[in-house]
Amino acid sequence: MNATFGVNFLLCIGQMARLLNRNFIIGVTGSIAAYKAAELTRELIREGASVRVVMTEGACEFITPLTMQALSGNPVHTGLLDTEAEAAMGHIELARWADSVIVAPASADSIARLVQGRADDLLGACVLATPAPIFVAPAMNQEMWAKAATQENIGVLRERGIEILGPDSGSQACGDIGAGRLLEPTEIVESLIASFSTGDLAGKHVVITAGPTREPLCPVRYISNRSSGKMGYALAEACLNAGARTTLISGPVHCDAAPGVDVVEVETTREMLEASMTATDGADIFIGAAAVVDFKPETVAAQKIKRAGSESMELKLVANPDIIATIATSDTRPNLVVGFAAETNDVSAYARDKLKRKNLDFIFANDVSDKAIGFNSDSNAGTLISANNEIVMAVSSKRVLAETMIAELAKHLSEK
Ligand code: C5P
Repeated sequence: MNATFGVNFLLCIGQMARLLNRNFIIGVTGSIAAYKAAELTRELIREGASVRVVMTEGACEFITPLTMQALSGNPVHTGLLDTEAEAAMGHIELARWADSVIVAPASADSIARLVQGRADDLLGACVLATPAPIFVAPAMNQEMWAKAATQENIGVLRERGIEILGPDSGSQACGDIGAGRLLEPTEIVESLIASFSTGDLAGKHVVITAGPTREPLCPVRYISNRSSGKMGYALAEACLNAGARTTLISGPVHCDAAPGVDVVEVETTREMLEASMTATDGADIFIGAAAVVDFKPETVAAQKIKRAGSESMELKLVANPDIIATIATSDTRPNLVVGFAAETNDVSAYARDKLKRKNLDFIFANDVSDKAIGFNSDSNAGTLISANNEIVMAVSSKRVLAETMIAELAKHLSEK
């Protein structure tokens, strides 16, 4: 790669990719503005997002699924009862894959259907089944928009926490002038980006551990575990979006931290402890999402350990410090200390025991015997437990789960 091109390319990525790796479902409904969903798809992809398009029957009369497939780079989903499509990615899986769902353009009829909670088409089913935030960008004739029925429907959606984007005012395809035009795709994208920056943790400092630690046996081998780091990295991004100064103390993983997160790379548990102690001095929240190796070899061989004909080998392990328990009992204890408990049985009981024993404010308990969630998966689910409360969090992408958790912690911090 030529140097100038390389720099420009990086600058371009740096400037543009504000939705990096965020998964969007765009729900397109039957409106003359359906063609603008094509541009919206392009804009989201330009910002680094992944897009899957769900089209209603009406939408397919205005724009072809082929166009949307070519632009999104993914097969377009149209039918609820299409067994082939369902086998590739069923509506529940699709709904859980999404980090956000945006219905754009949303016709008057599709809005009424969302209000009723209809699930007799794929879009309705996805909107009902998703744990992700939902956005609706209306587009219709100004008279239809102004009608009491539509206005009441919009009010209901707002009350349910759905964000309404637009509509715009101006000249309409039917010749009328007034409110009801779909917002321009670039404006929709800016609104989406702005809505992810909650400011809930503005002025706060959050320290998060992530990934596995590694304990060397010799210069070549080590003891470690399967932690991918995805949950800790998703939490870091959620904290950053909430306006916090965010420090991520990371074991060796293959994740990319969101630009703006301060990453401290470590390998061993001892290194992770030292980095955590330094970073938490003056911090407001500590989240221990790392899968820490609890025992390390008593001695580390200076040279590679050779087999040399032996049929067995004894390894003496000694306990590592407990990072989160050390932080939670230190003089510089942050206001909130939050742990994770990945368990295979009696999840809640073990988690509650850890909450107490380690002096934590919250513990997120999840069942790692379920292959669909946890360690290497992109999804997770579990229960956020505190001394006097339990909040069950349904299966969702780790990003959505992280955002829900951080919103909860921010609420708690502001009430403390
Ligand atoms: O491994 P365990 O189930 O005890 O982990 C519970 C919590 O304690 C997690 O938040 C983990 O990051 C933290 N932990 C730690 N240091 C250890 C072991 C676990 O910080 N040595």
